[in-house]
Amino acid sequence: MTLQYINNELTMHGHRLSDIAKKYGTPLFVYDETMIREQCRRFHTALKASGLRYTISYASKAFSSIQLFNLMAEEQMGLDVVSEGELFTALQSKVPENQIHFHGNNKTNREIQYAMESGVEYFVIDSLDEIERLNTLAERPVKAVLRINPGVEAHTHEFIQTGQENSKFGLSVKKGLALEGIKKIQAAEHLEFIGVHFHIGSQIFESTGTIATVDLVIDWLSENHIEIDVLNIGGGFSIKYTEEDISYPIEEGIKSITDALKNACHRNNFTLPEISLEPGRSIVGEAGITLYEVGTVKNIPDVNYYVSIDGGMSDHIRTALYDAQYDLKLVNREEPHDKMMTIAGKLCESGDIIRRDIKLPTSIHTGDYLAVLSTGAYHYSMSSNYNQMLKPAVIFVTEDSIKQVVRRQTLDQLIQNDVLA
Ligand code: LLP
Repeated sequence: MTLQYINNELTMHGHRLSDIAKKYGTPLFVYDETMIREQCRRFHTALKASGLRYTISYASKAFSSIQLFNLMAEEQMGLDVVSEGELFTALQSKVPENQIHFHGNNKTNREIQYAMESGVEYFVIDSLDEIERLNTLAERPVKAVLRINPGVEAHTHEFIQTGQENSKFGLSVKKGLALEGIKKIQAAEHLEFIGVHFHIGSQIFESTGTIATVDLVIDWLSENHIEIDVLNIGGGFSIKYTEEDISYPIEEGIKSITDALKNACHRNNFTLPEISLEPGRSIVGEAGITLYEVGTVKNIPDVNYYVSIDGGMSDHIRTALYDAQYDLKLVNREEPHDKMMTIAGKLCESGDIIRRDIKLPTSIHTGDYLAVLSTGAYHYSMSSNYNQMLKPAVIFVTEDSIKQVVRRQTLDQLIQNDVLA
């Protein structure tokens, strides 16, 4: 991330963030566009080095916008979508329909029909009844990948673990449901079984869980004489929110996973499949920051020191939801982080906190700008209109450009669906 203090002001690619905040208003999401592209290229380079056939689909739930999707098309990334809304947005972009994968544990018939009409070719099937529904609704051949549940527990927050046995996602390998699903797909008239998918969780720092799952899946497929053309290992690669976190080591990590796949295939005399990835957070997470303006400062002697900003859980839900931790920086000057404080939002809930117990400069006062780091994934996309807050604008920055990619919501938009009398 190209954030640095120049002349006592925090800058991104040399552009003063306080100028950007003044021009577009706060709260504001600002992305380092160059870093997003670099992350895409790191995955490509690592996968190319493996010599395997591969595809990468950006998991659009991390942050969806048309200009971001156009960037993904330029970076040879496909898209993973999970709803008609994500698909609709994707269809407005330059990403070709045949590079959009339709996911989700409960696709509605309407969504399936919409995806069929839109030219989506690749579905990740998540249940036995979906196989029947998709086969009935499909009026042409559809490529089907089955999401399996390998029964592996990833080391991450329990709310974002997905591979354990008790999960709403995928079909259990151990309980025989996955095999039943494959047989059903193979027998379905309009479905072409091309492979299996797993995603064991999100914000995973290391590769051991994925490697164990690759081993388990290839052994299991081989034992059951099932051939696949595609192995989709999902996303879940971690990013650095604070100093304690580790950005997933993409180059070494992908090498160890692809080596494990090669070994497992070799051991089982199994034909090497194409490997597919669906990174979301690791593509956009560290590239994005949120800018806020400071309002009230409240000192409760011997209890806490609250600094409130002009947004909150409507644009930053992860602290309330997962007790997530963030680093912050004062934007409009550089000073030592010497005072313990809590950064709070302005919404009407005690849990509306950005960060508890963090050291920041004592001098922070009304009118200052604060930057919350690593908010590029699951912030804008998880934003809401709670308290009738407006969704912020989104800006992309490179060395030579500052461009708005999403406008701030307007008050009129807040009531546009209200039926008057
Ligand atoms: N593929 C599948 C099937 C997924 O379910 C997900 C994330 C991804 C890919 C992308 O995972 P990533 O690379 O972004 O970790 N709201 C939570 C994260 C939920 C993730 C849901 N699925 C958070 O803010 O941490």
